[in-house]
Amino acid sequence: MLSANTIKVIKSTVPVLEVHGTAITKRFYEAMFADYPELLNIFNHANQKQGRQQTALANTVYAAAQHIDRLEAILPAVKGIAHKHRSLGVKAEHYPIVGKYLLKAIKDTLGDAATDDILQAWGEAYGVIADVFISVEAEMYATAQQQSGGWADFRPFVVARKVKESSVITSFYFEPQDGGAIAEFEAGQYISLKLDIPGETYTHIRQYSLSDSSGKPYYRISVKREDAHSGRPAGKVSVYLHEQVKEGDTVWLSAPAGAFTLDSNDSRPVVFISGGVGVTPMVSMAKAVIEKTPNRQATFIHAAVNSEMQALRPEVESLAASHPQLSAHFVYSRPSERDKEAGAYSKEGYIDTAWLKSVIAGSEDASFYFCGPLPFMKAVKAALLECGVAESDLNYEFFGPAAAL
Ligand SMILES: Cc1cc2nc3c(=O)[nH]c(=O)nc-3n(C[C@H](O)[C@H](O)[C@H](O)COP(=O)(O)OP(=O)(O)OC[C@H]3O[C@@H](n4cnc5c(N)ncnc54)[C@H](O)[C@@H]3O)c2cc1C
Ligand code: HEM
Repeated sequence: MLSANTIKVIKSTVPVLEVHGTAITKRFYEAMFADYPELLNIFNHANQKQGRQQTALANTVYAAAQHIDRLEAILPAVKGIAHKHRSLGVKAEHYPIVGKYLLKAIKDTLGDAATDDILQAWGEAYGVIADVFISVEAEMYATAQQQSGGWADFRPFVVARKVKESSVITSFYFEPQDGGAIAEFEAGQYISLKLDIPGETYTHIRQYSLSDSSGKPYYRISVKREDAHSGRPAGKVSVYLHEQVKEGDTVWLSAPAGAFTLDSNDSRPVVFISGGVGVTPMVSMAKAVIEKTPNRQATFIHAAVNSEMQALRPEVESLAASHPQLSAHFVYSRPSERDKEAGAYSKEGYIDTAWLKSVIAGSEDASFYFCGPLPFMKAVKAALLECGVAESDLNYEFFGPAAAL
């Protein structure tokens, strides 16, 4: 237990650290990777370069510190992070390393302002926060391993099929190399995929949402190829998957993970809204609704550039055609001439409040699930709130480190 004085010191220094938040975490990562370069096998280098991961970690440490005397308040957030940690292979022995460099970074950044009392208090608080993560994650590793067809870390899978879904998105069907069973998952969950790319010093791990339903002999992911653009380099893993990985190749997968899951006990109507490759968890969820709750009304809204870039459209259309509980609406920002002639979309442009209101009319009390690029998610959240949807009915997934919407 932390003493009252430690808690007081922590709470009074959180605002100071927040001001230096990103500077501290930047320094922390630099020093930690200099001494423990093998950790670069776990961390996403692109997220590091863009500072997204630094911000996510800093914000979480400060939020946890702010609630240090009632950590149960941050447990829901811890669960989401712990799922990701578990899928990446973060272990208890990593925590003291992170703690050591976090403290050192606080000391280096604050200089004389970091008194011994302050450092002592933060060391203790980090230990308490780390223990929460370690115990939640230990339970998750045990669950991942003990479930039928489960495993704890990374397991080799063979690419059974590679299927082009659109001009930018390709699906990969993975079957376990050992021929054994594979764990079921909840719609909305992802796997972490680990690649050993020839010529690269470190392994690269990325998360991909499972885009088919659970209970199949394979896991399917659908990956958007992140080409170089506007001075940004090409995406490492997605381009390698598209260009180099072929049927018969082996990749390493974590067991399914993630807290963005469809609540099957909720019988209210459900609305799925996705932009671009954010469609993947939504297709899995739409299938789960149909398989598990045939009386639940579901609306599928998907925004894409046009039919050439849209993935999994035939699958969604065929589900909607054969299941009256599901209706599908497609929004194209730049429909092709062919799309226009075919009337292939419900709306041209972007999803906006007026249009959304007309589509979800009567379902304002529904549960909403959405996923897509960050600006898309911000716009969707704002529009839903304007439609009168309660914030507590919004569920969303980031295809990167969590950010503020
Ligand atoms: C829970 C979850 C689920 C996901 N599900 C899916 C899914 O179903 N399908 C899917 O396609 N993706 C999904 N993603 C995203 C996926 O994990 C990868 O982030 C994505 O494939 C890009 O990885 P990459 O290695 O190709 O690109 P990276 O190499 O990681 O680069 C990512 C971006 O950063 C930019 N970048 C890299 N280095 C720099 C630099 N130095 N300066 C500036 N910019 C830089 C690149 O240009 C690129 O746009 C999901 C992510 C999460 C967290
Ligand atoms: C109490 C300590 C820790 C906190 C508060 C913390 C917090 C976070 C947060 C908020 C994220 C982003 C999750 C998301 O948005 O999905 C994250 C991701 C991650 N964490 Fe931690 N973490 C801690 C300890 C560790 C440790 C010990 C390691 C292993 C060395 C680790 C490795 C990672 C990695 C590899 C990612 C994903 C990074 C990426 O995608 O770039 N974390 N963590």
